[in-house]
Amino acid sequence: MEYKVCKSEELPNNSMKAILIQGNMILVCRSNDRLFALDNSCPHRGASLSKSDMKGTKIICYMHDFEYDLVSGKLLHIPGKWQNQNPNWTKSGDLLLFPVSEKDGEIYIELS
Ligand code: FES
Repeated sequence: MEYKVCKSEELPNNSMKAILIQGNMILVCRSNDRLFALDNSCPHRGASLSKSDMKGTKIICYMHDFEYDLVSGKLLHIPGKWQNQNPNWTKSGDLLLFPVSEKDGEIYIELS
């Protein structure tokens, strides 16, 4: 089902916005003039990704600096400072991505 997120002008390039939709906290981002929508919880330990930094099509979680690809959702990089941590602690899933679109000056996401 499609849900309206915000007006296009409320999400300029290189910005993000967290919005509660149907009980899910969704993070919508515009970076490199592309739109992305994802669950706001970091797949590592659940930190709020809305506090994180975007670098092009990557997002770097503010909590432990794990780096994820906004296009594929995949974990790209774990900082060397966590090298000696228990592998169970460094284990992470992928970002939970949602289809996002822009029509007539509004941004929409698709939630099943
Ligand atoms: S909670 Fe996001 S990197 Fe650990």
